[in-house]
Amino acid sequence: MSLWQKHAIFEKNSIILVIGILIVIAIGGLVEIVPLFYVKNTIEKVEGVRPYTPLELAGRDIYVREGCYLCHSQMIRPLRDEVERYGHYSLAAESKYDRPFQWGSERQGPDLSRVGGKYSDDWHRDHLRNPRSVVPGSIMPDYGFLEKTDLDYDHIDANLKTQAELGVPYTADMIAHAKSDVVIQATTDSPDAGDLTKRYPKAQARDYDGDPTRITEADALIAYLQMLGTEVDFKLYDDKANIR
Ligand code: HEC
Repeated sequence: MSLWQKHAIFEKNSIILVIGILIVIAIGGLVEIVPLFYVKNTIEKVEGVRPYTPLELAGRDIYVREGCYLCHSQMIRPLRDEVERYGHYSLAAESKYDRPFQWGSERQGPDLSRVGGKYSDDWHRDHLRNPRSVVPGSIMPDYGFLEKTDLDYDHIDANLKTQAELGVPYTADMIAHAKSDVVIQATTDSPDAGDLTKRYPKAQARDYDGDPTRITEADALIAYLQMLGTEVDFKLYDDKANIR
């Protein structure tokens, strides 16, 4: 019996064909999956990546609540046009504390993963209030109500605790200070800003929404936007990896 005739067994009997397919796919799957059990961590450790501060985490929740991800991605792909437009391509480690992650796939607007520090807080406030006031022709909706709505951070400690359960390394100290850290970070020249940066390196504390008398949802959202993509010092990587 030639090889081709043996193959006819598969072609003539659908059950045997299905079993054959399953065996072949299982081998392919094992080859891909088994090596992952032998590496310590599939996500490379990257210096500078830290959990979100409570204020940033609250801002991130507003980002999710408002569906910003429906128009904005947070993942720069390793393609030349993306890297030239947005900066260094996204590293897996940069979203390792994002639960759920915000990579997204829709881009009605630009990618936001490196928007931190690109604009001033005032720009963000004007842009959220009325995008057309700073970008004529923008199709982004208005979010002016955010600066009029007090931030509800009564349960922010529970929020941190939940994230900790999911594997984000929030310590008991961070959870205990969650509420006061919200206030510290939303205040310009807070005397406790040093404590905050001890817990969250490079956290920036200031009044984000232009109204120092209250902490609003705009404070939280702008604090979040302003830290996106600012954790890793890519000068170290660009020299080594020769990205461009
Ligand atoms: C209907 C789609 C849409 C939604 C929803 C949307 N945006 Fe946008 N966004 C855009 C578009 C289009 C632009 C580009 C024009 C502009 O800058 O306004 C943009 C621009 C931006 C920019 C400036 C980016 C840059 O690099 O210039 C930021 C920041 C931003 N959006 C934040 C947000 C946030 C935060 C939310 C949720 C509260 C949001 N967007 C919701 C469409 C959207």
